[in-house]
Amino acid sequence: MTTLTTHRLDADAAGIAEAGRLLRAGRLVAFPTETVYGLGADATDGRAVAAIYAAKGRPSFNPLIAHVATVGEALALGAFDAAATALARAFWPGPLTLVVPVAPGGAVSDLARAGLDTVGLRVPSHPVAQALLAAAGRPVAAPSANRSGHVSPTTAAHVLADLDGRIDAVMDGGPTDVGVESTIVACLGGDPVLLRPGGVPRDAIEAVIGRPLAAATGEATIAPGMLASHYAPDAAMRLDATAPGPGEALLAFGPVVPPGAAEVLNLSPTGDLAEAAANLFGHLRRLDASGARRIAVMPIPSEGLGEAIRDRLARAAAPRDA
Ligand code: TXA
Ligand code: MG
Repeated sequence: MTTLTTHRLDADAAGIAEAGRLLRAGRLVAFPTETVYGLGADATDGRAVAAIYAAKGRPSFNPLIAHVATVGEALALGAFDAAATALARAFWPGPLTLVVPVAPGGAVSDLARAGLDTVGLRVPSHPVAQALLAAAGRPVAAPSANRSGHVSPTTAAHVLADLDGRIDAVMDGGPTDVGVESTIVACLGGDPVLLRPGGVPRDAIEAVIGRPLAAATGEATIAPGMLASHYAPDAAMRLDATAPGPGEALLAFGPVVPPGAAEVLNLSPTGDLAEAAANLFGHLRRLDASGARRIAVMPIPSEGLGEAIRDRLARAAAPRDA
């Protein structure tokens, strides 16, 4: 594909105005959200959305989340049942994506929805994302701003490492807070289904809907993003390791770190899952760049944000097809 000059935009008024102008012109702009950096394009413009798939090398059947600045805008784009409405009111703006039936005449393009009759919607809370969405004045389709199958970016430098020369601009808003992607819940009439654990823990969602989330069936029709191998570093991964093996780098968690690894990064020396989530993708990138052929990962508890962290690690460890 053609090589572009990727502009670095500061997260100030001038940068936000320029990013809004680029999005309205059908261009690709990466921007921070509270979860990870997104690669944004005008969700109503099929050609702009096609450019996202091309820049990422993403399979075209995988639908994109449409981001909007306000709950009101989101409600206009989909059909929200009682559970979806309650979740929107409880967690937006924030790290939750709701998959709902698309509203008749809704503005999100077919391509952004990958032809489905549902739409994934999110109202991010990050101030730069909020300002950018307001400046764009339309829904912005944005997958994580990495090459398809790579680790999600939590800094502007990560975005450039994957996409420099392939996108028009990146807004630098510093490292993201949450560090793992949004929780995705499908509300399609029956019991709400957890499609992807993420920044809002399961318990918090179940408290709002007053019942357990249903499990995703794993059918690619509803959650194509749950493809097993995803979020992959180049190094092989070994999970729930109690000690590093020969030549392994160690991704540690908690105060007690077994000795012997050539490279060690600790997700959270105090065992704090929020800190671990924020560090996850950055630490994976750094250990990968250290040249280790394998990364051993210490056990992470599965409660709260630990469910999302364990999910991403399991995908990173899954057998690769490419
Ligand atoms: O935190 C996040 O969610 C980040 C930031 C940028 O918002 N975005 C993100 O996007 O992680 P992406 O494209 O990497 O993952 C979105 C997932 C995909 O797995 C996709 O299959 C699923 O959302 N998705 C989107 N729309 C859907 C729909 N209508 N039905 C089922 N799954 C959908
Ligand atoms: Mg992604």
